Amino acid sequence: MKIKVLDLKEGMILKNPVFSDNKILMEKGQEITSKSIERLENYKISEVEILDGKEQELNKIQTEEKVIKEEFEKVYQETRVKAKEVFTKALNGNVDIKAVDTMIIDTIANLEKSKDIFLTLLSMRGEENYLYDHSIKSTIIALSIGKKLGYDKDQLRLLGKAALLHDVGMFSIDNEIINKKDKLNDKEMEIIRKHTLDGENLLRNEEEVVQLAAKFHHERIDGEGYPNRVKGEELPEIVRIISIADIYTALISSREYRDAKDPQEVIAYLMQMSSKQVDTNIVKKLLENMSLFSIGAQVKLSNGKIAKVVKATDNPFRPIVDTEDERIDLNNKKNSLIYIMRLVV
Ligand SMILES: [Fe+2]
Repeated sequence: MKIKVLDLKEGMILKNPVFSDNKILMEKGQEITSKSIERLENYKISEVEILDGKEQELNKIQTEEKVIKEEFEKVYQETRVKAKEVFTKALNGNVDIKAVDTMIIDTIANLEKSKDIFLTLLSMRGEENYLYDHSIKSTIIALSIGKKLGYDKDQLRLLGKAALLHDVGMFSIDNEIINKKDKLNDKEMEIIRKHTLDGENLLRNEEEVVQLAAKFHHERIDGEGYPNRVKGEELPEIVRIISIADIYTALISSREYRDAKDPQEVIAYLMQMSSKQVDTNIVKKLLENMSLFSIGAQVKLSNGKIAKVVKATDNPFRPIVDTEDERIDLNNKKNSLIYIMRLVV
């Protein structure tokens, strides 16, 4: 909306930058103040474009989300530092329960603050040791599934602890094997498979389910996993959740020997695996946390508008999207006539 500088009011937001002789006077998104009005008048600018009410509301939401995301990024890096300490101690058979508990409580609190923004952190990675990120991300995924299953605080804490420590047995394996580009030989495979039993051993003083998560997270419902070829019904629900969180997290991460997959691709893969190898119900709960369209993807809506996917809803086909001037919750009944036609590449 164009407006005369004479009519500008404090608090309005610029839709476009303002130039004078190719020099930028004010940035896009900048708030109008009495000083800026004076400045525009001095430069003899007669009119500017500002955000209208709807656009301003959208701008406010997006700015708030940006702040939350930056906060979460900081939290993630701090969690990473704590995880490093926890794993260093755990390798000596000394699980720092207080530190683990604090990490889990913080993670649950962050999921509660804004699940979507927190889940977008899954693309983050520190410089060293893939295993720290893998453990933290698996924990975030496992907890978001646990919440969908209606777990209470105590159940979530146990699930979180089991998820955080499930791969602890991997930490003593040579990085050369973990990051090997070529196919592993039988001996290396055996070393990798042993991380389940080593993990169980390191966690022998912890709750039984925490030990079982380390031991059985590579077991599959059809009994085709390792180390003991245990079948579905013998695997506690917490272990089945962690298996799925583990597969999901591994596949969305890039490794030395393969590229990262899209979350959507991984979901399709898990759906294929489900019922035979992984628990279908838990995959569905994971899906309820996700949008079938990646967060950030551009889509064309049935009303002809182009929009950006910003949040998942309970319906993976109907996320929340931002068009140029408004936020639309496609899962809200009042928008039931609008749908996503296709991705815009
Ligand atoms: Fe593992």
